[in-house]
Amino acid sequence: MLQRMIKCAMLPALFILIQSRAMATEGMWLPHLLSNMNEKEMKGMGMKISAADIYNVNKGSLKDAIVSLGGFCTAELISSQSLLLTNHHCGYASVQSHSSVEHNYLDNGFWAKSREEELPNKGLFVTFIVRIEDVTLQAMQGINRSTPEKDRQKLIDANIAKIKDNAKKEQFQEALIKPFFEGNQFYLFITETYKDIRLVGTPPSSIGKFGSDTDNWIWPRHTGDFSLFRIYAGKDNRPAEYSKDNVPLRPKHFLPVSLDGIAENDFTMVFGFPGRTQQYLPSEAVKLTVEGQDPAKVSMRDASLKIIDGFMRQDEKIKIQYAAKYASTANAWKKWIGEMQGVQQTKGIERKVTYEGEYTKRLEANTTLKAKFDGVLDSLNTLYRGYAPFAINRDYYAELTRNVELLSVSDKIITLMNDVREKGEDQYPALRDKLVGSLESFYKDFSPRVDRDVAAALLDIYFKEVPTRYIGGEAVQIWMETNKSGKVTADKYYSNSALITYDKLKAFLNQPYRDLNTALFKDPVTRFGIALRNGFIQNVNNPAVAINNDIMRLQRVYMQAQMEVMDNKRFYPDANSTLRITYGKVSGYKPADAKTYDYSTTLDGVMEKYKPGDYEFDVPEKLRSLYAQKDYGQYGVNGKMPVCFIASNHTTGGNSGSPVLDAYGNLVGLNFDRTWEGTMSDINYDASICRNIMVDIRYVLFIVDKFAGAKNLVDEMKLVHPKKAAVKPVQKRA
Ligand code: ARG
Ligand code: GLU
Repeated sequence: MLQRMIKCAMLPALFILIQSRAMATEGMWLPHLLSNMNEKEMKGMGMKISAADIYNVNKGSLKDAIVSLGGFCTAELISSQSLLLTNHHCGYASVQSHSSVEHNYLDNGFWAKSREEELPNKGLFVTFIVRIEDVTLQAMQGINRSTPEKDRQKLIDANIAKIKDNAKKEQFQEALIKPFFEGNQFYLFITETYKDIRLVGTPPSSIGKFGSDTDNWIWPRHTGDFSLFRIYAGKDNRPAEYSKDNVPLRPKHFLPVSLDGIAENDFTMVFGFPGRTQQYLPSEAVKLTVEGQDPAKVSMRDASLKIIDGFMRQDEKIKIQYAAKYASTANAWKKWIGEMQGVQQTKGIERKVTYEGEYTKRLEANTTLKAKFDGVLDSLNTLYRGYAPFAINRDYYAELTRNVELLSVSDKIITLMNDVREKGEDQYPALRDKLVGSLESFYKDFSPRVDRDVAAALLDIYFKEVPTRYIGGEAVQIWMETNKSGKVTADKYYSNSALITYDKLKAFLNQPYRDLNTALFKDPVTRFGIALRNGFIQNVNNPAVAINNDIMRLQRVYMQAQMEVMDNKRFYPDANSTLRITYGKVSGYKPADAKTYDYSTTLDGVMEKYKPGDYEFDVPEKLRSLYAQKDYGQYGVNGKMPVCFIASNHTTGGNSGSPVLDAYGNLVGLNFDRTWEGTMSDINYDASICRNIMVDIRYVLFIVDKFAGAKNLVDEMKLVHPKKAAVKPVQKRA
C-alpha cells in the first residue's frame, strides 16, 4: 500500500521528466546562436563537439560544408574535391533532363567514370552561407509601435537597402536580409553562389525512388534516395559561369563519413534549409488549417488523383505523361491527410487552447505587459474566424484552377491579357511568344481525355461546396447553362475549345490582339475561366487580402507578446528557407494503439517489398544478387545491410538532402522525408510521433561501391570510425 502510494506520487515527476526530455528535440535553430541557446542541451544529449565547430566565421566549420541546392533542397560536401551529396528526388529534374530513350539515366542510373564524364546542369546552383548577422536594430530604425502599417514596410525596405549597400563583403558574394519571428527580427546573410554544378552519379529509380508514391511519407521505408553532384569553380576558386576549364571547388570544409552507423538513442543533428513552418499560430488558425483548408484541398485532390490513376493504369502513354504530375499532386495531398490526422491524434487544437489559457493568465497578472498586449490574442482569433470562409474558398478555387489543366491554361492567357493591358498593346507578340513557348512541354504531357474527366468531377465539387456568393453571378449563370453538371460542362468544352491542342491554341493566340479580346469571350473555356476568376477576385480574394493584412500585423504583435509573456519558453523562428540546425535522438515510435515501429530498416525489407516488374517495387538484378551473396563489404553489420533510419529531428520540406550528423559532426545519414503521423510538425510538433526519415550513409556507400562499382568516389571521401576512436584503451592496473 505504502509502496503504491509512493509510486503514484512519483508519477507526475517522472511524467514531466519524460515530457521535457522529449520536448527537447523541437526547434529549428539559427546556427550562429547555438552557443547561447542550445550548446548545453546538445552536449547533455550526447554531442561531443562545440557550437564553434558547427558555426565559425574565422575558420572552416560544419556550416561551410552545407549548401542550399537550387533554393529548394539542401546538399553537403563530402570530399576535398567538392563531391556533393543530395537526394535522388532533389536531383531528379537534372537527371531527367539528361535522359533520353538511348540513355535512360532515370531507369538505369548514371555514374561518371571520370571528371570529363560529369554532366553540367544549366540553371542549377548552390549557395553557401558565409556569415550571419543580427541587423534588427538597423532594419527597425525610425519605427515604433505607433508607426502606421503602410509606412512601416516602406521604412523597413529602405533600411534594408541601406544595410545591404553597407554590408562588408567580397564582390563575388551577395547580401540577403530576411525577417524572422513574423517581422520582429532581421538577419543579414552573406552568401556565395556557385553555378557550375555537375552530375556525378545517381542510382536507378528502382533504388533512388524505391516505393515511389505508395511508400512516400511512410515508415518503414526502404528508399536509397540519394544522388551525387560536384561543385566547380573558376581557377581562382571563385564562383564562375559554366566553363569546361573550371575546376572542382576547393572547399573550406567537407564532412567526414562515418562507418560506425547509428544505434538507438544516439544523438543526431540535421543541418539544412527548411522551407516554411507556422509554429506560433493561434488556435483558430490551426483549426482553420486542419478542419477547413486541409479537407477542402484533400477532397479536390482525392477526386483528381483517382481519375488520373485510373487512366495511368490502363494506358502506358498516359502513365508516362502524368507520372511527375501525379507524384507532385499526391505528395502534398498525402501530407495534408497526415497533418489532419496527426493534429487530431495529438490533440493539437486543445493544446493550443491550453497554451493560450496559460498565456492569458500570465498576461493578466502583469500590468506592464497587459497594457502592451491586451486583447491581441482575442482579436487575432476573431480575425481568423472571419477569415476562414475566404481562406477555404480560396483553396477551392486554387485547387480547381491547378488540377483542371485547361483552366490553368485559361488562367495563364488571362494573365497574359492583363500584362498586355498594363505594358501596352505593342508588347503582345513578345509576351504571347513567351507563353506559347512555355506551353510546349505542357501540351506534350497533356491528355484531353484525362483532363475532361478531372474537370467534370472537380466542377461538381466546386459548385457544390463553394456558396454561390463566393463564386459570383456570371460564373453561376454559365453553370446553369450546362444544367449544373460537371460532365455536361466538360463535354461541351472539350469538344469546342481552342485550348485542347497546342496547334489550335497557337492559332487562337495568333489572331490580332483586338480580335483575341472578343474571341476570349466566345471560347467556352476562357469565357468560363474569366467569369470564375472575376468572381473569385471580387468575392474571395480582395476581402481575403484585406483581412490577411490585419492578420499579418497582429501575428507579428502576438509573436512579440508570446516572447515577452512566456519568458521561460525558448523560442526558435519559423522556418523561412534559411540555414538551421535541429537535433534529436535516433528512436522508433508508437503510431497507434498496439503498433510499434523500430528505428531502422535493412535490405531484407527491400526484398520483402520486391514485386518483379512493378513500377514502384521492382529491384534491380544486381542488388538482388548482392543480397543473395550478402556481399556488403565493410558497410554491412552482422550480416545485414542497413537502409534507412528515423530520429526525432524537427525537419520540414527543404530539409531534403540535409546531412545527418553524429555526435562528432561526421556524416551518418541523409534526410529525405518525415513519417506520415508526424507531418503536422509544421504547425504542431509533437516529439512522441514526429520523426524524420533518413537514408543510412552506409547504404549510400554500399550502392556507390558495390552496386555501381564507383569505388573511385568512395576513395575520394574521408571514411572514419568515430565510435572506435572514442573508446579509450583499458588501462591495466599495475
Ligand atoms: N515526401 C518527400 C518530400 O516532400 C519526398 C517527395 C518525393 N518522393 C515521392 N515519392 N514523390 O517532399
Ligand atoms: N521530402 C521533403 C523535401 O523535399 C522533406 C520531407 C519533409 O517535408 O520533411 O524537402
